Amino acid sequence: MPSQPRVFVTRALPGDALEGLAQRTRCEVWSGEGPPSPKELAAAAQDCDGLLCLLTDRIDSKLLDHCTRVRVVSSCSVGLDHIDLAHATARGIRVGYTPGVLVETTADLAFALLLAAARRVVEADRFVRAAQWTWQRRWEPELLLGRDLHGGTLGVIGLGLVGRAVARRARGFDMRVLGWTRSGQSVEGVEAVELNQLLAESDFVTVHVAYSEETHGLLDAAAIAGMKRGAVLVSTARGGIVDEEALAAALKSGALAGAGLDVFADEPLDPASPLLRLPNLVVTPHIGSASVTTRKRMAALAVDNLLAGLAGRPLPHCANPELEQTGAA
Ligand code: DGY
Repeated sequence: MPSQPRVFVTRALPGDALEGLAQRTRCEVWSGEGPPSPKELAAAAQDCDGLLCLLTDRIDSKLLDHCTRVRVVSSCSVGLDHIDLAHATARGIRVGYTPGVLVETTADLAFALLLAAARRVVEADRFVRAAQWTWQRRWEPELLLGRDLHGGTLGVIGLGLVGRAVARRARGFDMRVLGWTRSGQSVEGVEAVELNQLLAESDFVTVHVAYSEETHGLLDAAAIAGMKRGAVLVSTARGGIVDEEALAAALKSGALAGAGLDVFADEPLDPASPLLRLPNLVVTPHIGSASVTTRKRMAALAVDNLLAGLAGRPLPHCANPELEQTGAA
């Protein structure tokens, strides 16, 4: 009987997916408090046939060249900007990822940020906790006034699965929905417009493009200056797409009424970041897909991808399908 493949998993995952993996492979799960350092990752993955990683692990050309046995890398994420996909493909290493299963959960968080920023939910919470809700101010006509989401115009930047799921939610709020995507793709119920028109006409803008060289700084100072006065900007995509300095300036000057960010150029966000001094910015720590059900589904799919790759079968979700077509395994 052939020996079981060796795999390294960079973090314990929710649900029971790793139990199934442990039955079929010789599996080591990193038990450190945070992610393994690049050196620790290289040492642990060196003799492995497969690797199950997270978006916090850098799977660069150096690591891939070092781990000469690795045939498949399965990331428990939809984003792949932490993996040198071109290098993996050149080395014949198939890369799995987890699209689809996190779409609705991420769209829920985008909507939560839109509502929280528009209706100043976090500011209001802080107000109560700081004992500012006093008898004299128990109901003030002008206390913590926000913006109505319903009936407004929502601009969706990127009309992939998550962008479309947010657009669907917006229709339930009687919103006009504008959409922009590089490919100019048309989506039912969404008016396709140029990016500058979307920014100029939207009361709310939500970002759903993947991070790449092309989308780095897509929402730069000029783009933010082109937004409607008093608009709200939300991103659950990736840091680096929105210019954080320009956003902070717009929030400070009142050009934008509010914003919600789940993703940052540098994660974790430095507690001393000037962004944290802005009362009209809602921040969350990259939790777009963080529901119990979705994280279990992501873990199960990441394990399915890994096991399929190790067995030489097509991956349920392969980021370099050209390797499947040529029969590389
Ligand atoms: C992903 O999977 O890329 C998401 O950012 C996780 O929330």
